[in-house]
Amino acid sequence: MASKSAFITVCLFIVFMLVCFTDARRGAPRKIFNVMDYDAVADGKSDNSEAFQKAWNVACQYYGRSVVLIPWGTYTLNTVLFKGPCKGAMAFLVKGVLKAPTDPALFSTNTWIGFRYLDGLVVKGGGSLDGQGVSAWPYNDCFTNPECKPLPVSMRFDFINNSRIHHLKSVNSKNAHINLFACNNMNISHIRLTAPGNSPNTDGIHIGASSDIKISRTLISTGDDCISMVSGSQNIDISDVQCGPGHGISVGSLGRSHEKEFVKGLTIRNCTFSGTQNGLRIKTWAPSLASSAGDFTFENIVMRNVFNPIIIDQQYCPVPPCTNQAQSQVQISNVTFRNIWGTSSSRVAVTMKCSEMVPCRNIKLMNINLAYNGSDGPITSSCFNVNGGSYGKQLPSGCV
Ligand SMILES: *[C@@H]1O[C@H](CO)[C@@H](O)[C@H](O)[C@H]1NC(C)=O
Ligand SMILES: *[C@@H]1O[C@H](CO)[C@@H](O)[C@H](O)[C@H]1NC(C)=O
Ligand SMILES: *[C@@H]1O[C@H](CO)[C@@H](O)[C@H](O)[C@H]1NC(C)=O
Ligand SMILES: *[C@@H]1O[C@H](CO)[C@@H](O)[C@H](O)[C@H]1NC(C)=O
Ligand SMILES: *[C@@H]1O[C@H](CO)[C@@H](O)[C@H](O)[C@H]1NC(C)=O
Repeated sequence: MASKSAFITVCLFIVFMLVCFTDARRGAPRKIFNVMDYDAVADGKSDNSEAFQKAWNVACQYYGRSVVLIPWGTYTLNTVLFKGPCKGAMAFLVKGVLKAPTDPALFSTNTWIGFRYLDGLVVKGGGSLDGQGVSAWPYNDCFTNPECKPLPVSMRFDFINNSRIHHLKSVNSKNAHINLFACNNMNISHIRLTAPGNSPNTDGIHIGASSDIKISRTLISTGDDCISMVSGSQNIDISDVQCGPGHGISVGSLGRSHEKEFVKGLTIRNCTFSGTQNGLRIKTWAPSLASSAGDFTFENIVMRNVFNPIIIDQQYCPVPPCTNQAQSQVQISNVTFRNIWGTSSSRVAVTMKCSEMVPCRNIKLMNINLAYNGSDGPITSSCFNVNGGSYGKQLPSGCV
């Protein structure tokens, strides 16, 4: 009898503790962890890596909602890694300017600011990240040296779920501005990523192995792809993005690794490309392993003086020598281009170089109205190995 009531008491106690614990998590107030309280110095010179790391680590142990605050001012910062899991939801509130050291040799990893293993992260604040790439870009020899040490990416998000990044600026990243790997359900909006049009490898947002990613109301002017999506990108929704200069929005390159790759489910709507090398691009290596890319919708897109407004390139080979005999085995299917208008800076505004081995399937061109900004002939399209159809207005005349 005694042991039974003791048992019930223990059970009640456990239930009580669980209720308390849950309430503490949910009801705990928001707490601000100001980096200034962890010895940060906003003089634009001192290294604040340790101060920021300490502020994050303490905030991460707090059960409520933590805000790591970087107030107005300029903070120099070397590599930092903000790791979870944390006890409560984390926000990284950047009001000031974060400045990377100029010398790439000072970075121990290929990341400047990294976030890892977090659920419910928010990064915002209206502040900016200055990657100080100008002096580092000359060290980028990745075009000619396969063993090159990549320059650090400004912000890396690895294994991050249910998170938001908004109201943030990034300038002159040494490598990509933002890299997402293994992230699920992330919304990115109202950000501004800029670097000169001739800066090497400065992708705006690079996405791999991630799903349910929304990017909206964003401006990207950079030297490489505004947004690039590689294998494992799934359900990506891009709208209201102004891209240019840069290489446009790209799927790929796919088919280079030893595993089957895929990109599935992508919509790009209401975007403008200005003076970019490409607009909407899908590229796969040749030769390449069997892989797939598809279920894409591109609509309401304005092109302003874009060199390749629409391009599918299954012979992608940026570094010669390239053999035209090699075939890509990446199956591209179910891609719709609808309401695409504006100007092309090259005569061939629509290029579809699909694989002879696995021709593109179900490609639709609907209401395409592009004008050539040049005088050496009419605007044209060029298609190889494409199945699908053209509907509505077609300028250049459809070749699908
Ligand atoms: C993120 O979600 C994935 C898939 O649901 C899960 O396996 C992973 O543990 C989650 N990661 C974090 C940090 O919550
Ligand atoms: C992202 O936006 C979608 C739709 O606007 C919403 O359903 C989702 O909950 C948002 N995710 C986050 C992490 O805020
Ligand atoms: C795109 O623009 C159209 C027309 O302005 C608008 O109705 C639609 O809601 C927009 N869609 C997105 C996803 O922004
Ligand atoms: C394309 O559509 C076909 C037929 O509906 C489907 O079987 C195939 O899986 C789709 N491909 C992709 C990549 O979504
Ligand atoms: C045509 O090209 C010229 C030279 O590149 C450029 O200045 C001009 O803005 C372009 N016009 C349009 C309508 O894109």
